[in-house]
Amino acid sequence: MLAPRHKPTIPPAFNGETVTWTHHWTDRLFSFRCTRDPGLRFVAGQFAMIGLMVEGKPLVRAYSMVSPPWDEELEFLSIKVQNGPLTSRLQHVQVGDTVLIGKKPTGTLLCENLLPGKTLWLLGTGTGLAPFMSLIREPDVYEHYEKVVLAHTVREVKELAYRELISRDLPAHEFLGEMLRGKLLYYPSVTREPFPTQGRITTLLESGQACRDLGLPPLSVERDRVMLCGSEAMNADMKALLEARGFTEGSNSTPGSYVVEKAFVTK
Ligand code: A2P
Repeated sequence: MLAPRHKPTIPPAFNGETVTWTHHWTDRLFSFRCTRDPGLRFVAGQFAMIGLMVEGKPLVRAYSMVSPPWDEELEFLSIKVQNGPLTSRLQHVQVGDTVLIGKKPTGTLLCENLLPGKTLWLLGTGTGLAPFMSLIREPDVYEHYEKVVLAHTVREVKELAYRELISRDLPAHEFLGEMLRGKLLYYPSVTREPFPTQGRITTLLESGQACRDLGLPPLSVERDRVMLCGSEAMNADMKALLEARGFTEGSNSTPGSYVVEKAFVTK
């Protein structure tokens, strides 16, 4: 029997999944959900190659999973760039469309790549929030840490994606609520508009303001563990700040006191 004409042939490294939901936060930022192959396994914090078939070929980029591993669907957060090869197309996906999801998720933002500690800092700028949305809904994380700080820095208030989910829905969540209430500290900051917490997370940590605002002791390699996911500039500045305080980078082979991943797609 012939395959229906509108269904592209999916290359073997990918599953073809169906878009189930889209949400546009701003003219530069959107999220979508899709079905998940029951065979796809991943750990909170990992990314997969995702994208679209374009002119018979896969056009894919690395995207961190926003959804936690226990979610039966997958969710992603993406920027929209009008002339970006992938995002100029991906931003138009509609419910029912097919997206490519790579079968081999990977990445370094994993709890097991960090040495034991008391406070876990998840520091993201822009779409670098994505892997942390998965991690803050992973029950395991709360067993390893006394406090989990999610710091998200964006230019404008409307770019604080998932703000209501984090601050309102999660603490009220049927299963996760009790576990994360009082443990998960959300620390949004905005750089180019008035907002209660203004400035880059680098500046807020350097000055000690972030710790004072959160009622936490000053950043120290003895008690704090850090995951970074931002632009190259943000990652480099945070690395310098952490290494000056004695933090060492962890990897999939050797755990350390911080780990880092680029917020991938910029086009
Ligand atoms: P700023 O407005 O001061 O540049 P972008 O939208 O360019 O990806 O940036 C997302 C957020 O990351 C912005 O609030 C931006 O602040 C911030 N940012 C950019 N570069 C750095 C850096 N080197 N360290 C910390 N934050 C940064």
